[in-house]
Amino acid sequence: MPSSYRTLEMTVLMTPDTANFAGSVHGGHILKLLDQVAFACASRFSGSYVVTASVDQVVFHERIHVGELVTFLASVNYTGRSSMEIGIRVVAERITERSQRHVLTCYFTMVAIDAEGRPCAVQTVPIETPEQRRRWAAATLRRELRKEVEARSLEIRANAEELLSELDNEPH
Ligand SMILES: CC(C)(COP(=O)(O)OP(=O)(O)OC[C@H]1O[C@@H](n2cnc3c(N)ncnc32)[C@H](O)[C@@H]1OP(=O)(O)O)[C@@H](O)C(=O)NCCC(=O)NCCS
Repeated sequence: MPSSYRTLEMTVLMTPDTANFAGSVHGGHILKLLDQVAFACASRFSGSYVVTASVDQVVFHERIHVGELVTFLASVNYTGRSSMEIGIRVVAERITERSQRHVLTCYFTMVAIDAEGRPCAVQTVPIETPEQRRRWAAATLRRELRKEVEARSLEIRANAEELLSELDNEPH
């Protein structure tokens, strides 16, 4: 596998058809592009079709405007048996000013699947540089955090009122 297959970069022009009613780019358009980038990065790395298992919290720190170039910088941060964490940094660029700003970073968990749609093993992403080590460590911590958040969310859905009254009774 070429080492370049662990990262992927895509730049897209934000055309007028991507605008929302406020005149900036519709968030859903960016979410769709993020999912496509995550798919492309994970499937090319693994040589398999993949599905999106989860997307971590996405926070839009800045608006993106029509006429800007948006670059998606994706990397395979972590591999489990069948899953891959794909980190994506998004940078918007005003063409005529040559100015760039970071608008968001988010993390997708993509799972490789076989012809029957069952999770299948992927190669382990090689860790050779300090940056790759840092990303692997952060991804391992996020994997644990996802499990905790999922368990807590289920608990909240099942027992919201009891949990809220427990919180209200805690000393402030
Ligand atoms: C993702 C999916 C294949 C996992 O299937 P599963 O039966 O739970 O399989 P497993 O328990 O063996 O888990 C497989 C991997 O997925 C990961 N995974 C499962 N649920 C996850 C979740 N909610 N968040 C992140 N990772 C998850 C597991 O950690 C495991 O990773 P590993 O092999 O690296 O350890 C299955 O839930 C699925 O097909 N979901 C629908 C995906 C989809 O269609 N997405 C597009 C929606 S339109």
